[in-house]
Amino acid sequence: MADGTLVTLTRHLIEEQRRFPESRGEFSNMFLDLTLALKIISREVMKAGLVNILGETPDTNIQGETVMKLDRFADDRIFKAMDHGGHLCCMASEECENLIKIPSRFRKGDYVLVFDPLDGSSNIDKNVSIGTIFAIFKRVTEPGGDGTLEDALQPGHKQVAAGYCIFGSSTMLVYTTGQGVHGFTLDPSVGEFLLSHENIQCPEKGTIYSINEGNSLFWDQGTKDFVNFLKEQDKETGRPYSHRYIGSLVADFHRNLLAGGVFIYPTDFKNPRRPRPKLRLLYEAAPLAFIAEQAGGKASTGEKRIMDLTPTTLHERVPLVIGSRWEVEKYEEFYRKAKAQSE
Ligand code: AHG
Ligand code: MN
Ligand code: MN
Repeated sequence: MADGTLVTLTRHLIEEQRRFPESRGEFSNMFLDLTLALKIISREVMKAGLVNILGETPDTNIQGETVMKLDRFADDRIFKAMDHGGHLCCMASEECENLIKIPSRFRKGDYVLVFDPLDGSSNIDKNVSIGTIFAIFKRVTEPGGDGTLEDALQPGHKQVAAGYCIFGSSTMLVYTTGQGVHGFTLDPSVGEFLLSHENIQCPEKGTIYSINEGNSLFWDQGTKDFVNFLKEQDKETGRPYSHRYIGSLVADFHRNLLAGGVFIYPTDFKNPRRPRPKLRLLYEAAPLAFIAEQAGGKASTGEKRIMDLTPTTLHERVPLVIGSRWEVEKYEEFYRKAKAQSE
């Protein structure tokens, strides 16, 4: 803090909680349970090269991707931190094909947690930034019993909280409950997340674009036109833009959130008969969309607001354009124009 006071995450949650007099602290306690898992994951990630936790498992997940040991570790730590607190009625994870039930011996609560336990798997054993992404909903089914798919398959605008933890040069937790976006940096010497970025605002416009240029042959025309537009020379709009692509959504998103710019993962038309978006709506696109909008940015499929989409399955994929308002809206212009011309 500017005046040197240390604001811990706990203090921040309590101060936020005071805005809701009827709150019984249920949300704060649940959120703090989650941060314990994030601290443990951070500890393992930061020493991953020293312990036998790198590399691949023999398993593949529902996505057909090889499960990395650290994916499995992170998934397991979050489950164990969250299964017994009595706050959740169910969970959903990128690493689990089906809805995750709360063990019968524990009370079922009023919230739902959905998460990508470790985002950026291809970078895990390369010492490149990776992260965890999560979102929290209120259950929509009757209280007391097991949660159902109906509780998990909710549109982004129903999220009560969303966040990510980026394991990079430092470990940083960024979250929103709809009251702005706040960043906390982990001080490992005391094991506390300390407020370091209060009320993050995404610049209205940036000079960076993030996209996997290696897939450019397989993009839709609108994406091709937009990226070519960013590469043109135009002093007034700061073009040509710089290209930055880490390959971890959390890291690319976080940099653009702070510096301004746009991240794009469009539908891949490698197989024209089976166009395929890559990123998952429930636990990647929607949580980051909540954060982007709360920070003054935007998140879209190119046509639709991400926060308006209701997933039909846990692992449903969507095209994602997210970051500074100017670039997302400009992308939407190019996307719609190319689509109209193709019809
Ligand atoms: P995950 O590791 O959770 O499967 O997510 C990986 C995602 C995302 O982090 C990143 O933006 C994207 O995959 C990179 O995909 P490409 O390697 O195809 O560019
Ligand atoms: Mn991911
Ligand atoms: Mn993942």
